[in-house]
Amino acid sequence: MSAQATECCATRRYPGSDQAARLFKALGDETRLTIIRQLAEQGSVCACDLGACCDLAQPTVSHHLKVLREAGLVTTEKQGQWIFFALRPGLLGELRAWLADAPPASAALSGPHCCEQGEPMSASPTVKRVRRVVREHYATAARRVVAQGGASCCASDRCCSSAKSFYDLDELAALPDTAANASFGCGNPTLLAHLQPGEVVLDLGSGAGLDVLLSAKRVAPTGKAYGLDMTDDMLTLARSNASEAGVANVEFLKGHIEAIPLPDASVDVIISNCVINLSADKDAVLAEAFRVLRPGGRLAVTDIVVRGAPLTSQARQALSLWAECVTGALTEAEYAAKLETAGFEAVALETIKVYGPDDLPRGEGATPIEALIDPDSEIVSAFVRALKPSH
Ligand SMILES: C[S@@+](CC[C@H](N)C(=O)[O-])C[C@H]1O[C@@H](n2cnc3c(N)ncnc32)[C@H](O)[C@@H]1O
Repeated sequence: MSAQATECCATRRYPGSDQAARLFKALGDETRLTIIRQLAEQGSVCACDLGACCDLAQPTVSHHLKVLREAGLVTTEKQGQWIFFALRPGLLGELRAWLADAPPASAALSGPHCCEQGEPMSASPTVKRVRRVVREHYATAARRVVAQGGASCCASDRCCSSAKSFYDLDELAALPDTAANASFGCGNPTLLAHLQPGEVVLDLGSGAGLDVLLSAKRVAPTGKAYGLDMTDDMLTLARSNASEAGVANVEFLKGHIEAIPLPDASVDVIISNCVINLSADKDAVLAEAFRVLRPGGRLAVTDIVVRGAPLTSQARQALSLWAECVTGALTEAEYAAKLETAGFEAVALETIKVYGPDDLPRGEGATPIEALIDPDSEIVSAFVRALKPSH
């Protein structure tokens, strides 16, 4: 290995490598891979049928299924005298997310950014830069929540200062403080989503998991809520909140909202709270949201948008002090047009809150930020809804 590679990667640890190694070890057998492919294609399969379709003796099938089950790759369900096997829900997404986060070996030797965490080579430099800034910001925010035991997440984070007012206090009281007080959002998408028992929900940029936990309760007992986030500290906090709240039908995936680690047409409802504005590739986010939704699926998002003329670059720069919550905000018209281009229909935006001078950061220069914003423009948080056509 070259000196450059040694210096660059000597201390590198890929988050989740230990768990991924266990999974890949169990997968590292031709027969087990054949079984996994069968389960991926057919869903739930009786052990008795696996022998026939994979041309294997029954004791051989049983041995390999035992290894897969002990490694947590498959689940079992007894139906009468038969045992049915299925891939553990979320398994393929987890493996895909882990692989998508690992740059090819050549990238580790290629330059000054070779040790940037979690950036697939396909992302553009701008997307990577924005993600890095956002990830650092929210990693710090998550650590602050943990350090303060959930006392407050908003002290220095103006864009979430009123988030708690969007939620039902009784619902929040049933959750750990480190979830209930850790909303970094600008609304409550779970109000908009009209979730039903049995549905599969995906929260883009799930943060400390508040909306995922609330959604999971609404879709229980047979439904499931996924949270997707790129920031390790947020994922750790969210998983610990889920376990403390005793909510089992949730799964937090590591990945980027521009490349969602879930299969096509696997989700009924996509929610998101104040995250899409942070992405430097919103077309990719909306195309991915469209891909993973089932036909007829709903998008129910809260986000920061600009009503009126787009922000000037001077205003965007000044507002970047505000946790990047506004710098990437689209106008209402741009948001609607992007959703339609992605294939959505019934697109509607509805203002929840208008941010006035008191909500905006002061800025460092002599010019107050409101002076940089077109007098006919407003920064608002909005409900954004859309449907994937049912055919
Ligand atoms: C404003 S916070 C919102 C968190 C949560 N939705 C809430 O309401 O509290 C943004 C979250 O989105 C995540 N995030 C931002 N950009 C992302 C991206 N491109 N891919 C995945 N996660 C992202 C951040 O790590 C952070 O946890």
